[in-house]
Amino acid sequence: MKKLAVIGWPIAHSYSPLMHNYISREMNADYVYEAVETPPEKLGEIVSKLKADGVLGFNVTAPHKFNVMQYLDEISQDAQYFGAVNTVLNKNGKLIGYNTDAEGFYEALCYSGINPDGKHVLMLGAGGAAQPVAINLVKKCASLTVTNRTKERLFELKDVVKNCTGANIKTEIDRETYDIIINCTSLGMGNNIGMSPLSDMSIIGKDTYCVDMIYNPWETQFLKDAKKAGAKCVNGLSMLIFQGILAYRIFTGIDAPLSLADGIEKEILAHRNIVLTGFMASGKTVVGKALAEKLGRKFVDSDVLIEEKCGRTIPEIFEKYGEEYFRSVEAQVIEEISLEKGAVIATGGGVVLNGDNIAVLRKNATIVNLEPTKEVVISRLSNDDGTRPLNKGQDIEQILDRFENRKPFYDNCDVKVKITDEMSVEDSLSAVLKGLEGKI
Ligand code: S3P
Repeated sequence: MKKLAVIGWPIAHSYSPLMHNYISREMNADYVYEAVETPPEKLGEIVSKLKADGVLGFNVTAPHKFNVMQYLDEISQDAQYFGAVNTVLNKNGKLIGYNTDAEGFYEALCYSGINPDGKHVLMLGAGGAAQPVAINLVKKCASLTVTNRTKERLFELKDVVKNCTGANIKTEIDRETYDIIINCTSLGMGNNIGMSPLSDMSIIGKDTYCVDMIYNPWETQFLKDAKKAGAKCVNGLSMLIFQGILAYRIFTGIDAPLSLADGIEKEILAHRNIVLTGFMASGKTVVGKALAEKLGRKFVDSDVLIEEKCGRTIPEIFEKYGEEYFRSVEAQVIEEISLEKGAVIATGGGVVLNGDNIAVLRKNATIVNLEPTKEVVISRLSNDDGTRPLNKGQDIEQILDRFENRKPFYDNCDVKVKITDEMSVEDSLSAVLKGLEGKI
């Protein structure tokens, strides 16, 4: 069995092993691909070890795409221009660095029916992710405009692109609309969730494609806004898939077809978890179980795992150790659950209060929020039987206050499903399935 790998930090949630092992199965090729957690201070050591172990090639992801270059014997022209390596081939003990990100992005666009050749393209952001794409696209499209918050970096990119290709990028918006608008910033992900690099929606025409390099969350604020403005949208997953197919070809010499992309996407979607969030009694557990059954997936309940971990019921944990302790165990359990594959996960009502919980779950999940109406909260929680410690001694007005206060936290989701009093479990399940269309 020949060995391949990906290095990065953190790397546990990477889709690369899944993707490359899928390609090997499809191509009947004898390779095994695994993720190697590589903290920055161990980069050199791990690269030497991979080489000594006879690994045939490895992918490189954040934060090592630049720093890995010092450990390589040769670097392709493209990767030198891009200032980043994402693919390393071990050719008879010689490490050669390549970069398939930009070509992968280009292929992803074409595959989605958006050939950028001869088009007017606007890129938002001039950072590390933008540079390879700008260098790759500038000579293919009719015009390439890049905007960036800091002008210094923008002009640096303009110079790099000019030096590498001889072509000029524009640095100011000078058209009424663009054919393709690409988000190359990190606005919309991690701590920047809900933010978008584009406020002026008027530059989106009726045939504009909006593309995001981000796929976690599945639909960034930029794509949500763009969709509302009538644009056709593509997220960053296909870019990930195509850079992977191109890297696989470099590693193995096998001409893996681009048409594998569909199968890879299905494989990734089936591997992603579905997380249900929502206020107490919104139906996360009941609907979650029904969803898991319907989809043939495993069901996991974070509160059950907390009880198992502590050997006590939730009311006992609150009573004996207090809420703060409960939240710390909850965060640990959420981190563990985030490593589930293809599961339906029901979370306790307060999980959303800690943004890190949602961020770690989202690395491999679509977040579905069940949003009960006020009437549902009243009807289901007015006579709470005392199993929910937070409601102990609280009247319905106080419970409704908590519900209102938590609403912004529940908005941190990919799909929102309204739950009304009239809805049966089957109705809620259908509504969830509808919201998940194209995402599972
Ligand atoms: C909580 C909700 C409960 C449980 C704990 C805290 C909350 O789960 O995690 O009592 O803060 O809303 P349910 O939402 O399943 O009731």
